[in-house]
Amino acid sequence: MAQDIYLLIVEDEAALRETTAERLVDHGYQVVAVASGEEAVERLSEFAFDVVLTDLRLPGIDGREVLGAAIERYPEIVGIVMTGFGTVKDAVEAIKRGAAEFITKPFQFDQLLHVLASALEQRRLRSENAYLRSQLEDRYRFEGLVGRSRQMRELFDLLETVSASTSTVLVTGETGTGKELAARAIHHNSRRRAHRFVALNCSAVPETLLEAELFGHVRGAYTGAVANRAGRFEIADRGTLFLDEVGTMSVALQAKLLRVLQERELERIGDTRTIKIDVRVIAATNADLPQLVQDGLFREDLYYRLNVIPIGLPPLRERREDIPLLVRHFVNRLSQQQTPAREVTVTQEAMRRMMAYGWPGNIRQLENAVERALALGGERTQIDVEDLPPELKNSAALEQPVAVTLPDGGVELPAFIANIERGLISQALNETDGNKQRAAQLLGLKRTTLVEKVRRLRP
Ligand SMILES: Nc1ncnc2c1ncn2[C@@H]1O[C@H](COP(=O)(O)OP(=O)(O)OP(=O)(O)O)[C@@H](O)[C@H]1O
Ligand SMILES: [Mg+2]
Repeated sequence: MAQDIYLLIVEDEAALRETTAERLVDHGYQVVAVASGEEAVERLSEFAFDVVLTDLRLPGIDGREVLGAAIERYPEIVGIVMTGFGTVKDAVEAIKRGAAEFITKPFQFDQLLHVLASALEQRRLRSENAYLRSQLEDRYRFEGLVGRSRQMRELFDLLETVSASTSTVLVTGETGTGKELAARAIHHNSRRRAHRFVALNCSAVPETLLEAELFGHVRGAYTGAVANRAGRFEIADRGTLFLDEVGTMSVALQAKLLRVLQERELERIGDTRTIKIDVRVIAATNADLPQLVQDGLFREDLYYRLNVIPIGLPPLRERREDIPLLVRHFVNRLSQQQTPAREVTVTQEAMRRMMAYGWPGNIRQLENAVERALALGGERTQIDVEDLPPELKNSAALEQPVAVTLPDGGVELPAFIANIERGLISQALNETDGNKQRAAQLLGLKRTTLVEKVRRLRP
């Protein structure tokens, strides 16, 4: 049973750290041991441990903060504080802040095993009661976007700054990374919020109708134009126009769009009257626009006109530490919509699978996976591995903390790592019968990166 339990030890005293780690490994626990609170917090952002066993007094970030960070990320985690005699009062205070136990130093190893077993048992009971629904803190949100990774916090700062200006914005990113949500966030955080946010997906409207959709027409301008009609630019006046999939627009229409952006005025199709407009444009694409420019499919001048402020949304696999927060966000939102509303938790093993997976469909795919899990869960109040989509079920092995010990004589690190990479790549290729696209997904890489690595790593 213990072999499925992942435990993080945080202890600055080397001898105690190492003996405790070794003995827990002997008892079948999967152990990662670190010497500082800083390292602990970093590990926690990458991996969903079951237990964090921390010293209270640590140089730098102390045990209390480590526990806080752990519980905030994973309400399911078991916290155990090791504390010297005389600091029991502090320990009690640390415990009050979250679900934690404590053990006083020096302790017999059996005492620790006992505390551990009872804490794990308590967690099991507690999960069955769905004990905790943590609030997402405001500091990890910007409008509808949530995220705590460095990339997302930088994005929030950028969105905040951009909201205050009226410059044109180009949002780029893979499918499902939140491009539209980011555009809405800018609008709602700007002074234009009292006016409309108008979205137009350029690839969803037939080319022949797109021009009229954008600029409007007068009655009789063409067959089917039975009445005067305002275009999206006019409707968005004083607000924001979101041009989605802008890379699919024809070169002819691109020229017209450029003119409107430059002159800030337009004529409806079939009309001679010029209309002034005050619209902020936010464009989005998951195509490689510079490449389209090179290929002559996208006007270079329009590209520069749109790309005044570029905002790139990172793929989910490059910010896995956001996954627990996003999962909680979706679980909270979706489970509250059900009747009766339920308090639902997620097991650490299910969380590990989700953190290890490559998410080619990014946040939209994650959201769908959570929705599916809740539906499959029925009346249950806990999401477990069995509720996850099939492609996640074998994703865990890759991100388990690798238990590598430094050989006495040291290693050649680059060669050693190349060896590990080679091993995992060949496993991925085996599992997918040599399908590079799917193997790349299993490894959380782009296909081109995988191909490049295969070439470079060939022994
Ligand atoms: N940071 C985030 N926090 C919470 N929800 C998010 C976040 N990013 C995206 N989502 C959700 O994920 C889904 C996809 O987001 P969105 O439609 O904005 O993606 P997109 O980049 O426009 O995708 P596509 O390229 O396929 O159009 C939406 O339901 C959105 O609410
Ligand atoms: Mg979109």
